[in-house]
Amino acid sequence: MTQSPIKTEALDAAPAGIARAAELLQAGALVAFPTETVYGLGADARNGTAVAGIYATKGRPAFNPLIAHVADVASARALVEWNDMAEAMAAAHWPGPLTLVLPLRSGHGVSPLVTAGLDTLAVRVPAKACARALLAAVGGPVAAPSANPSGRISPTTAAHVEAGLGGSIAAILDDGPCTVGVESTILGLAGDVPVLLRPGGLSAEEIEATLGHAIAERDSSDPLTAPGQLLSHYAPKASVRLNATRFEPGELSLGFGAGQCDLNLSATGDLREAAANLFGHLHALDARARPIAVAPIPEQGLGVAINDRLRRAAAPR
Ligand code: TXA
Ligand code: MG
Repeated sequence: MTQSPIKTEALDAAPAGIARAAELLQAGALVAFPTETVYGLGADARNGTAVAGIYATKGRPAFNPLIAHVADVASARALVEWNDMAEAMAAAHWPGPLTLVLPLRSGHGVSPLVTAGLDTLAVRVPAKACARALLAAVGGPVAAPSANPSGRISPTTAAHVEAGLGGSIAAILDDGPCTVGVESTILGLAGDVPVLLRPGGLSAEEIEATLGHAIAERDSSDPLTAPGQLLSHYAPKASVRLNATRFEPGELSLGFGAGQCDLNLSATGDLREAAANLFGHLHALDARARPIAVAPIPEQGLGVAINDRLRRAAAPR
C-alpha cells in the first residue's frame, strides 16, 4: 500500500501553530509533536482510522499498544481506574517522563487499536508546555508512539521527524530539541504490585522514593508484562479460523471486501478501515461465543499487522 506523498506542514510552537496542529488532529490527521522525551506521532485516540494511520505510516509490522497523551491528571482519570499508587506517582512526577498503565474505565471512548485489545491503557501527561497546550486544545487523548519509521532511531528534533516521515504526515509541530531524549518510564499499576515495564526518563530510584518501597523489574518471561509479544495475546473464547474462503454453517464470519458476512472489516477492502475495526469486531463476535472464520487479508501494508494479530488470536491455546 504505497501512499502518494502529501505536503507536510511545518508549524511552530506559537499559538497559531498549536491551534492548527489541534485542528488537524481533530480532523483525523497525523501530526508529529514535541514532548520532553522524544517527538511523538500523534493521532486522535478515539478515532480508530486515525490510529490505524500511525501503524501504516510507521510501517509497524504488529499492533503494539500505544500511549494515550493527555493534558492533565483529571483527563487521565476520565480514561482509567485510578488508585492510590497512581495518585502518588502523578502528584510527584506529572507532568513528566512517566507513563502509567492502569485498567480502562468504562466509557473511556479510546479506540481498541490504541490498547491493541487489552483492558489496560498507558497514559501520560507530558511536561513540555507546547505538548500540553496542544493536548488541551485537542480536548481529548492523543495516541502517540515515537515519530520515526519502525526500526529507526527515535527523533529528538523536528528535523529528525522530517527526515523520517516528511511527505507522509499532515504536519510537524516544532518546539526545538527534546530535553530528556529517551522515552518515558512505563510503570504498570494495574496489578497488586507496581512493575517497571520499561526503563526511561524517570529513574527507578525516583519511583521507589515516591512509593516508599522497591519495585519489581519486568519479568521478560511473563507474557502479561509484554502484551505485544504474547502469541495468544488476544484470544477470543471460541476458535478462530483464518484465510476462510467460504464460511461454514454455525461459524460467525468476519469478512474483508465485498460479500456476505456477519461483520465486515472493510466492505471496500480498505486496510486502514480494517485495522480500525479489527479489535472492536473481534470483541463483538467473541461476545456471541461461536467459532469465528476470518476472510483472507492481503499480506501488504497494514495487512501485515492485521494478519500478525489475527494469527495470535487463532494460535492454539
Ligand atoms: O516518551 C514516550 O513514552 C514517547 C513519547 C512520544 O510520549 N512514546 C513512546 O511510545 O515511547 P511507544 O509507542 O514507542 O511505546 C509505548 C510502549 C510500548 O512498549 C508498549 O508495549 C507499552 O508502551 N504499552 C502501551 N500500552 C500498554 C499496556 N496497556 N500495557 C503494557 N504496556 C503498554
Ligand atoms: Mg518508539
